Amino acid sequence: MDKKITLNNGIEMPTLGFGVFQIPDYDECKRAVLQALKNGYHLIDTAAAYLNEGAVGDAIRESGINREEIFVTTKLWVQDAGYENTQKAIDASLKRLGLDYIDLYLIHQPLGDVYGSWRAMEDAYKTGKLKSIGVANFENDRLQDLMMHNEIKPAVDQIELHPFFAQPERVQWLLDNDIVPEAWGPFAEGKQGIFTNPTIKKIADNHGKTNGQVILRWLNQRNIVVIPKSVHESRIIENSQIFDFELSAKEMEQMNSLDEGVSLFGNMSNPETVKQLGNVKFNY
Ligand SMILES: NC(=O)c1ccc[n+]([C@@H]2O[C@H](COP(=O)([O-])OP(=O)(O)OC[C@H]3O[C@@H](n4cnc5c(N)ncnc54)[C@H](OP(=O)(O)O)[C@@H]3O)[C@@H](O)[C@H]2O)c1
Repeated sequence: MDKKITLNNGIEMPTLGFGVFQIPDYDECKRAVLQALKNGYHLIDTAAAYLNEGAVGDAIRESGINREEIFVTTKLWVQDAGYENTQKAIDASLKRLGLDYIDLYLIHQPLGDVYGSWRAMEDAYKTGKLKSIGVANFENDRLQDLMMHNEIKPAVDQIELHPFFAQPERVQWLLDNDIVPEAWGPFAEGKQGIFTNPTIKKIADNHGKTNGQVILRWLNQRNIVVIPKSVHESRIIENSQIFDFELSAKEMEQMNSLDEGVSLFGNMSNPETVKQLGNVKFNY
């Protein structure tokens, strides 16, 4: 996979980005985003629910990098679902970011009035406030329905993808339908000893790379966009160095063999998860 991928609306998206989930502190987030931008990341993935859109916007301005060279993703939280709420939420995100357009706007969860939200997003797309629109955490059946009953096709589905939850069929369906799969939690947030896993380590040693780099490379070679998060500059740099080596077909297979087929972060087809997430409200 190249450093950029073309979305189904012709917009180019970097295939490596920087995620800022769980960095609510303004200074810490701004510093991390500045370090990411300085070290060659051109995609920043935030969300209204991460409570750090302000820090992301300030870091972008302070970086001195042209706005057009940076791809900004943010997301609509569940409490803002529905046509009018989404219109307001888009404007509020733009205001917090201090930007006049968002490169990619995602419905964060497949919950609430997502059809109303999608129509508001289509309208904001037509006026240029949103350059591309997509979803996160949508199963393929929900995505199929959204596509069939609306005008604009989602460009991206951002879903949990890491070695222990590789979701090959789901990813293949997205690729077949010209929707870019984007991996959240590429390191499974460090669960299950992923950074010292011996199968990954052996492959990493073959290439003089780290487990983290092999994981990101494996995802990229499956045509998946990656957005690793770190607040440590050495790791931010490490995670960006994935374009100077290639995994063989055998190594890809070895990585694929780690798949356990179960989410490590909760299942959206469980009513309890839906209830819990549907009740989470933020004071942005
Ligand atoms: N759409 C959604 O529902 C959703 C859900 C979750 C996440 N996301 C997005 O996806 C992004 C990435 O996922 P994530 O933040 O949940 O988890 P992640 O990227 O899988 O893992 C981040 C964790 O790994 C550590 N880490 C990072 N690089 C490392 C390295 N090279 N060596 C050792 N440890 C390393 C980080 O620690 P330090 O920070 O201490 O270095 C942090 O604890 C998020 O930031 C967010 O933008 C979206």
